[in-house]
Amino acid sequence: MATIREVAELAGVSISTVSHVINETRYVSPSAKARVMDAIQRLNYHHNRLASSLRNQKTHTIGVLLPNNANPFFAKILTGIETACYTSGYNFIMGNANDDPERELSYLRVLLSKQVDGVLLISTGADDAALHLMTERKVPLVLVDRAGTEQADIIHTDNRQGGQLATDYLIRLGHRRIACITGPSFLTPSSERIIGYEQTMQEAGLPVRDEWIITGDFHQESGYQAIQQLLKLDELPTAIFACNDLMALGVLCGLHEAGLSVPDDISLIGYDDIQMASYSVPRLTTIRQPSEELGQLAVERLVERLDNPQAPFQQDVLSVHLITRQSCRLIAEN
Ligand code: RIB
Repeated sequence: MATIREVAELAGVSISTVSHVINETRYVSPSAKARVMDAIQRLNYHHNRLASSLRNQKTHTIGVLLPNNANPFFAKILTGIETACYTSGYNFIMGNANDDPERELSYLRVLLSKQVDGVLLISTGADDAALHLMTERKVPLVLVDRAGTEQADIIHTDNRQGGQLATDYLIRLGHRRIACITGPSFLTPSSERIIGYEQTMQEAGLPVRDEWIITGDFHQESGYQAIQQLLKLDELPTAIFACNDLMALGVLCGLHEAGLSVPDDISLIGYDDIQMASYSVPRLTTIRQPSEELGQLAVERLVERLDNPQAPFQQDVLSVHLITRQSCRLIAEN
């Protein structure tokens, strides 16, 4: 059986060039690539991926664990991951934890059994069993979007900035009674956004009532249930900051059923800027997270980690931006 060395000699290139052509891990000039492909055909060479992966202990495959692939925000992160994997010559295997920490741990064990070179984890955050397993097994790990341990690289957006941007925008429109529907309190995006909201309200000298802060779970239904609670208050807020677009869409549905109009009766701002935010009625004002960039950068950081396992852990924080559409309006001072 022909060897990779014989292919390289016949093609007049190095063994690593043959490897890059086979794994598509780096650019190879068309002429060199043609010579390699010709040599492979003439020698009837078959690259034994399993054998090479056993020798190099690399499978050129990374594991990706999402908390819930039904949320378009994570689907956009996955698009970024897929693009970066394709250009850097990696495959990936994805698991969906469906917000269940036990399923998250189970999928992590499956990924490790497949000998993935490293893992990108968007944690359910519900417990840290998965993080303990990764630390114990010493498999390169990059956390995305949600923090959980100091013993890994992490990439997320500036959630406190996002909470400040959303709240400041509503205050500049004249709103004083502003409610906030946040995600699960054990997730860093939730806790940081609520801090941004509270700090901005405080700096504007505006009171925050306990009944204006409602904890959701980042799904539509929790937004719908939150607005049922707010509608029972003796004095309705004039604006609502929902800490993700899916909950904002649930709020929109609840307000519509109650015969209330957005933004005429209540202004509403979301978070993430998923595609549906541009097509809701009214179109949703929101805070845009650079989700595809998050995914691409996560792959780059993991590949760097694989090349240099001893490098110090690093944290990347990406900015978020206010996207104004039609769901918020100016109101007179009240
Ligand atoms: O929409 C899901 C939310 O959970 C997003 O805001 C994201 O930051 C994730 O943490």
